[in-house]
Amino acid sequence: MATKWQQKWILGNWKMNGRLETSGALLHDLSLAANQTSQIYCGVAIPALYLPYALDWTSGSQLHIGAEDVSRFGTDGAYTGEISATMLTDIGVRFALIGHSERRQYFHENNTCLHQKLQNCLKAALIPVLCVGETSQQREAGQAENVVADQLAILTGLPVNEIVIAYEPVWAIGSGKIPTAAQIEQMHTFIYQRILSLCPKDVKIRVLYGGSVNQNNAAEIMTVRHVDGALVGGASLQADSFTAIIQAACAPLNKS
Ligand code: PGA
Repeated sequence: MATKWQQKWILGNWKMNGRLETSGALLHDLSLAANQTSQIYCGVAIPALYLPYALDWTSGSQLHIGAEDVSRFGTDGAYTGEISATMLTDIGVRFALIGHSERRQYFHENNTCLHQKLQNCLKAALIPVLCVGETSQQREAGQAENVVADQLAILTGLPVNEIVIAYEPVWAIGSGKIPTAAQIEQMHTFIYQRILSLCPKDVKIRVLYGGSVNQNNAAEIMTVRHVDGALVGGASLQADSFTAIIQAACAPLNKS
């Protein structure tokens, strides 16, 4: 059986959405969808408050639970309001998003802070899902690769053996707009090359595409070279659409 570093990954990102009752029902349905296939690594990043419930509700299923963020502080101490990477792994959380564009925008997270978060994830054996991507102005100015290269530079000098990158052009998030297949392929190839130049040669890599992925476009995106899966925002809040995206990720695998 393929390891998770050979599988496609479909991850949801609920952002600041959900309530106890609705989230319980949704996670139940998403677990059923995840259990239908052993070919896909399925997960969902949910608000921190609900993580213990989610782990309980999905226990024994193939749906992995992740955090939407992690503290930049690495050791226990006087950091009011923070949740460390070690606390997350302590309760069974598998992965954490870091550097989502909304964190960069609203919380001014920069490379210094994200380097610390990445380091904390690695120490705690929490899989980091590093989100990168350019704004529309940066793309129009021909700077997309430079921006992404700068965001990936935080990998330099860290003992990264396993890394998940989510390429999410800021202009595609929640907008209904997506890059062309050629643009996605070009950026994913670039990301692979950068990681291989910055990390140990045997580093395990998954590069996910994110930004307006839905049940109608997932099948096509999933066949693009170097697309190892998707990070899904809005469409992960509905069982039907998230299930359809998981199935779309399985389809090319079933054909081959
Ligand atoms: P979207 O969000 O799928 O709603 O565009 C993706 C994300 O922000 O991770």
